[in-house]
Amino acid sequence: MSNFKSPGFTCWLTGLSGAGKSTIAIEVTRALEQLSVPCEYLDGDVIRTNLSKGLSFSREDRNINVARVGYVCRLLNKHGINTVVALISPYQDAREQLKLQIPNFIEVYVDTPLDVCITRDVKGLYKKALAGDIAEFTGISSPYEPPLNPDLILKTHKETINECVEKVLTYLHNQGQIR
Ligand code: ADX
Repeated sequence: MSNFKSPGFTCWLTGLSGAGKSTIAIEVTRALEQLSVPCEYLDGDVIRTNLSKGLSFSREDRNINVARVGYVCRLLNKHGINTVVALISPYQDAREQLKLQIPNFIEVYVDTPLDVCITRDVKGLYKKALAGDIAEFTGISSPYEPPLNPDLILKTHKETINECVEKVLTYLHNQGQIR
């Protein structure tokens, strides 16, 4: 038997604020833990209170945020710890860099339309952004560049959370990432 531990995977959820990224990521992480698959969940809101504290929502700072999280994922993956990430990560170029740097990178596009996210407005941020009280808010006053060729597309306005989670797990299984 080889002593080499194969690198883990990074399951990266990108999409608008309120698209359902965190909800799905938490459930995927829970399911992986139940399967005894080592996994760390990295959430945009949490990352911004520690690792990326002080970063703004400018294009440059968002890309720094994405690159930092990608760096952590690469380190963890190298040691066989899989990562599940929920970050808006709105810019194509920053996501393309991740693909180059992380060996088993899976791009999951949580494709919830803006009007649905605005209607949900779980955190009340869209209301503030639409009123002009939050600058550079994704989808309102800052762009979101949809993935051109994601590995997986989830539509939380058409599928249940369970269905979305199952899709992710099935993909990971089919790719040989989990047994
Ligand atoms: S990213 O663009 O850098 O990937 P990230 O996922 O870390 O974003 O953070 C997004 C979260 O920050 C949102 O879910 C929301 O709670 C909060 N937030 C605060 N200001 C903004 C803003 N201007 N645009 C988007 N999200 C914001």
